[in-house]
Amino acid sequence: MKYNRILLKLSGEALMGERQYGIDPQRLAEYAQEIKQIHDKGVQIAIVIGGGNIFRGLAGASNGMDRVQGDYMGMLATVINGMALQGALEDAGMQTRLQTALEIKAIAEPYIKRKAVRHLEKGRIVIFGAGTGNPYFTTDTAAVLRGVEVEADVILKGTRVDGIYTADPEKDLSATKYDTLTFEDVLKKGLNVMDTTAFTLSQENALPIIVFDMNKPGNLVKVCEGELVGTTVNV
Ligand code: GTP
Repeated sequence: MKYNRILLKLSGEALMGERQYGIDPQRLAEYAQEIKQIHDKGVQIAIVIGGGNIFRGLAGASNGMDRVQGDYMGMLATVINGMALQGALEDAGMQTRLQTALEIKAIAEPYIKRKAVRHLEKGRIVIFGAGTGNPYFTTDTAAVLRGVEVEADVILKGTRVDGIYTADPEKDLSATKYDTLTFEDVLKKGLNVMDTTAFTLSQENALPIIVFDMNKPGNLVKVCEGELVGTTVNV
């Protein structure tokens, strides 16, 4: 395996499957199987999941809701997704721990870096919920922050597109995919990989990002084996 410890970022929307809202148990079970393949090969796995399938702070704000209030609601949405993913991973036979940036001790451990690392060393999958615990930060930023903290080798951004394109491939049919990019390339070309805060944090800590299609079976294991799947952003 090319990577020993990974931080997998999953979007909340991905959990909807074909639905318009909420969580598709079938999709969750599929993700659990994908994750199991790398877990069985000994990869240490930390996961940050978004909440957009349930609530988005920014969307709330654009409808007149207080932004901070909306962002906290979004953080709670990530906890719901984290609990669902935890259940699916445990059903598939993996040990997990859910740690949250906002304390909700009846359902999850509070985020403690040293405990998280210990869990990873023992082969437990650690899911980080509630983003960074602060409004105005995205779950991409939470993913990079936690990735840096637990010293992950790479951020794996699982999406529904298979990498970074010259333009949005869902809108522009002539768009072509990059295999590798440097952080500087991304900035020079004005490509949209993650929001600026997340991207800068990754760049400053020389933590590579791989954007890949999480919905294609077998992709996650290929990425961890070092196969050129998706787009890699590195120094
Ligand atoms: P080790 O000490 O490495 O064995 O880790 P551990 O997680 O097994 O030990 P611990 O005694 O800390 O936790 C036992 C169980 O309680 C685990 O399932 C934890 O996820 C859970 N747990 C620990 N702290 C909390 C907490 O603050 N809230 C909740 N809800 N569960 C917790």
